[in-house]
Amino acid sequence: MDKLIIEGGQPLHGVITVNGSKNAALPILLASILLEGAQDFDNVPNLRDIRTTLKLLQLLGCQCRHEGHTVHVEPGPLVPEAPYDLVRTMRASVLCLGPLLARLGRARVALPGGCAIGARPVDQHLKGLEKMGATFTLEEGNIIGSCSRLHGAEISLDMPTVGGTENLIMAAALAEGTTLLCNAAREPEIIDLANFLNSCGARIKGQGTSTIEIEGVTSLKGSRYAIMPDRIEAGTFLACVGITGGRLVLQNCPVDALEAVFRTLQNMGMRFETTDEGLVASMDGDLRATDLRTQPYPGFPTDMQAQVMAMMCLAHGVSLVDERIFENRFMHALELVRMGADIQLTGHTALIRGVDHLNGAPVMASDLRASASLIVAGLAAHGTTQIRRIYHLDRGYERIEEKLSAVGARIRREHEDD
Ligand code: UD1
Repeated sequence: MDKLIIEGGQPLHGVITVNGSKNAALPILLASILLEGAQDFDNVPNLRDIRTTLKLLQLLGCQCRHEGHTVHVEPGPLVPEAPYDLVRTMRASVLCLGPLLARLGRARVALPGGCAIGARPVDQHLKGLEKMGATFTLEEGNIIGSCSRLHGAEISLDMPTVGGTENLIMAAALAEGTTLLCNAAREPEIIDLANFLNSCGARIKGQGTSTIEIEGVTSLKGSRYAIMPDRIEAGTFLACVGITGGRLVLQNCPVDALEAVFRTLQNMGMRFETTDEGLVASMDGDLRATDLRTQPYPGFPTDMQAQVMAMMCLAHGVSLVDERIFENRFMHALELVRMGADIQLTGHTALIRGVDHLNGAPVMASDLRASASLIVAGLAAHGTTQIRRIYHLDRGYERIEEKLSAVGARIRREHEDD
């Protein structure tokens, strides 16, 4: 098992190129199930979750080739079964349910269980698909779905779920008639999915708003599509330079998708400028405390909460974090406390009193963004931080230690026997 070792205290200076978005790539790759004909994807990040998705696509009957940041998918005869072994390592596997029902009229997909950051049910996915004509039973932990051709429906989601919106857009793309999806999620990754499907012949309007209209078509053709850049990877680098001080240029940064993050980081004292070279983020002087509440897009993203909380640990004054998307998404807080942070947790809020400095310590990553938060803290801490269980990190960040070393951080990966 690998661990990261960080010697804190180096300001960051230099240029980092942001990768393609993991959360956009996962549904878009799985949307290959809907296609007749081959598809090429560009700007696909090289991550564990992507490799898991390609493994799933292969089990479902597609041929996949992954070279660098390009993926080639050749759909073959489909097998409608997503086994538990894959679904339990990556919840997003459940996104094959809509496409399988749309293409084959049947699917057997393991029900994702709880995970480190909360229960995360899929009731909204199932409710929407039922409205389109599917029926479901639960057998031995698997969702068994069947239908004749799905039909358009008016579906109102109880909450703007990202995965639910994606599953339903994919199913509706090949359904008979028009689907109106109300209270849909508005995340940039949903716009990317809809744009991709439209490039294959789908008729989707309203992506990026709460009401999405999908007029079903009878078939979708493959083409070539470049995945959008990763706003959370970009935001994580912003938090890194925010806590160490310095100046970073982010190339390929999805500036429009980061507005809420910019506002919070500006409140804390950071400066941003869009230039021909890329987004310039700089920080000098002391961090100021601020408050944040996670919300569905365009609100502050829950996937950036942990990284910004690490910054708050060193900000002057008292900050409040209100986590409204996932229960139990404060696992990083307890590790930050091991590094000397002053954090008080009450239900879904965290009160952070800024301290003078953090101390390096051995800490444990508990989920993807918690790992990123410990890197942010370690970059500024006095002494050495060792982060264990970084397999979580490898799900969502490609070569992060190499990218950070290139801009001045003292961070390295070491292999450790179990
Ligand atoms: C996606 C992102 C994840 C991000 C999250 C919120 C991917 C692969 N993952 O996850 O990184 O943190 O959006 O921005 O894109 N819910 C229900 N019933 C449902 C579906 C969801 O109650 O059927 C609840 C969940 O428990 C959670 C909230 O809705 O409390 C948001 O979940 P959702 O938007 O679906 O997140 P994911 O798509 O799983």
